[in-house]
Amino acid sequence: MTTEQTIKPEQSDGAAPNGRDVLSVTDERTGRQYELPIEDGAIRAAHLRQIKVSDDDFGLMSYDPAFLNTASCRSAITWIDGDKGELWHRGIPIDQLCEHSNYLEVAYLLIFGELPKKEQLDAWVHDITIHTFVHENIKKFVEGFRYDAHPMGMLLATVGALSTFYPDAKKIKDQGERYMATIRMIAKMPTLAAFAYRHNLGLPYVYPDNDLHYPGNFLSMMFKMTELKYEPDPRLAKALDVLWILHADHEQNCSTSAVRSVGSSDVDPYSAVAAGVAALYGPLHGGANEAVLKMLDRIETTDNIPGFLEGVKEGNERLMGFGHRVYKNYDPRARIIKKHVDAVFEVTGRNPKLDIAVELEKRALEDDYFVKRKLYPNVDFYSGLIYEALQLPPEMFTVMFAIPRTSGWMAQWQEMVDDPEQKIARPRQIYTGGGPRDYVPMDKR
Ligand code: CMC
Repeated sequence: MTTEQTIKPEQSDGAAPNGRDVLSVTDERTGRQYELPIEDGAIRAAHLRQIKVSDDDFGLMSYDPAFLNTASCRSAITWIDGDKGELWHRGIPIDQLCEHSNYLEVAYLLIFGELPKKEQLDAWVHDITIHTFVHENIKKFVEGFRYDAHPMGMLLATVGALSTFYPDAKKIKDQGERYMATIRMIAKMPTLAAFAYRHNLGLPYVYPDNDLHYPGNFLSMMFKMTELKYEPDPRLAKALDVLWILHADHEQNCSTSAVRSVGSSDVDPYSAVAAGVAALYGPLHGGANEAVLKMLDRIETTDNIPGFLEGVKEGNERLMGFGHRVYKNYDPRARIIKKHVDAVFEVTGRNPKLDIAVELEKRALEDDYFVKRKLYPNVDFYSGLIYEALQLPPEMFTVMFAIPRTSGWMAQWQEMVDDPEQKIARPRQIYTGGGPRDYVPMDKR
């Protein structure tokens, strides 16, 4: 087991030769010995509390800023092998899902744990399709945003606001309410995203077209102008669908942890998912695809790549779309996206930035700095090129990530709510301040 892998019980090969799954610890401060059970390749941090120097000692804690080596939950949804560059959802490798499935089926798989039978999938798609409309008042408050409001800021606000339209979503133990919140969230996210986009352009909002499938309807809400019926190009709809499968879930990343952490307070799922959208907005997470395009714009030509890479190595900037907390190999999602780039360019024309991206990748992968640190392209390196070819402005790229991640967030939220071991998330701290000291009146400072 390496630090780059998530913990997978049946592969935890750390069993002691004598067969005892126990960690023996000697506290040199006291000379006492402890035996900590090892389960699924992990010890429980709470078991460290028995290690004390005196009766009134709080007990030993583990210190793990940014959760580099701490499992916060048990999860059966997604498995990543960072060393091998593998990703499975409910045990099925991502490349098989991209080849044979579609986004809504993968969403079902994530939420329910199994691939649906035909009638289950039909009912699921039907339920999502008939919930794509949003309350008319949502349109009014989208209008209240500045003309140049960032669409992620608008999405964050509108998703959070959905909780006020569906107050029964607070009944988080009620299976029926949970199902409705899941359906509504997956159904309405593309509508909210398209409204934000049209608001930026000053264009009228386009209502959902429920004759179209999920990605086709999104393209219609984004790009329909005066035509009576928008006919999505099937090649673009397919590429979008694959991109959405690739972004559907990615275990305990920053936004998913945010959803779980906020959701652990028993707040309604709309509010918990709004926290996920906020986390995804950041440039080190979902915002990286927007940052990649801005970076390629700045690099301008392949001639400038060596100078740019020097700047990265000197620490002046980051090579956006490279590196990952878990993958220490090629991100399998980046590999699949790269394959779809050409299919999209066949329809839209070639994006000249592709040459810069390909050359940048090649040079970085030959460079010692990136090789030593195991920095490879991640999902965001090529996705932005496709989004730009679809004529989306960079500000929309992270929105395109948030739409499909909604199913992952909801699957993880439900798993968290049903997990009897989970409680309200409340990390400990190591206090580094002083005190106690007396309050000093203003005239004495
Ligand atoms: N460019 C240059 N150097 C890098 C990069 C990069 N993109 N990523 C990591 N490094 C260096 C980092 O400076 C450090 O070097 P040193 O050991 O000399 O201090 C070393 O590699 C380890 O990096 P880290 O910052 O400790 O790694 P992390 O696990 O904390 O960060 C990351 C992961 C994704 C935030 C980081 O790789 C990064 O900032 N990448 C660029 C942003 C990006 O593309 N984010 C999208 C992630 S994938 C989509 C998603 O799931 O959100």
